[in-house]
Amino acid sequence: MSDAVRSIQQVLKAEDTLEGAGVRLKRAFGNGEVPLFDPFLLLDNFASCNPSDYEAGFPWHPHRGIETVTYMLEGQVEHGDSLGNVGRIDSGDVQWMSSGSGILHQEMPKRKEGMFQGFQLWVNLPAKLKMSDPTYLGLTAKDIPVVQQDGATVKVVAGRFQNVEGPVRGLNVDPTYLDVALLPGERSRLPVKKGYTAFAYTVDGATKFPGKEGLLAPKRAVLLDDGDVVEAEAGPEGGRFLLVSGRPLHEPVAWYGPIVMNTQQEIETAARELRRGTFIKAKEIAGA
Ligand code: FE2
Repeated sequence: MSDAVRSIQQVLKAEDTLEGAGVRLKRAFGNGEVPLFDPFLLLDNFASCNPSDYEAGFPWHPHRGIETVTYMLEGQVEHGDSLGNVGRIDSGDVQWMSSGSGILHQEMPKRKEGMFQGFQLWVNLPAKLKMSDPTYLGLTAKDIPVVQQDGATVKVVAGRFQNVEGPVRGLNVDPTYLDVALLPGERSRLPVKKGYTAFAYTVDGATKFPGKEGLLAPKRAVLLDDGDVVEAEAGPEGGRFLLVSGRPLHEPVAWYGPIVMNTQQEIETAARELRRGTFIKAKEIAGA
């Protein structure tokens, strides 16, 4: 049986968006795209050489019902949360946070010379896990395996590539998250589970995926149709892209800012709990 190659279903150009306390970022997709990327809700790309675009950061704010995956390419983000976690996400590091029933955190980019670049992906939680306990996983660049395959260098953040498994495991939507860099003119075949939602996000250079669009510039979200393999080909200057896939949830989405639930009633409950100070369910673990 031959592999079914996924071709492009839709290309979205990331849009200028103002978030947090005034961070200028590029949003690849968000609540206007539900349910196209199910189980993924949002992808933000920070990319600026100008500290005034990012240093206002994301002061204390709540999340409920989602997981957030922060992957930094260049630059540092300091964070702290209501579980007592305090730390720094450095270049090449990944923070995978499951808000479950509720977390309060802050994410503050540090001013630096040159480019500040990173990504935050929101992964939806299934209804049965939306009120689970929050968890947190901080990974450094050295925790993330790198696989060389011909002209491709693939960092495996989550899921599996060439029998190498990424450090983010055991999550409900079975996500794969790869950072793929192709040398000029090189092609790569990347297996993706059939029936799973898969998209690429172009980062550098130019990359072509099967379809009519030709070489795609950076900052494009490329939603792929179904199949079991993704084929990518780099342009003359090479191409770098994220490839993300996961099992769709097919559940209703009720979205209010950083809180994503299944019903409007659950959103109203969350808003009321925030007002009353009863939003956080998990005990704070000071200094954990
Ligand atoms: Fe956040």
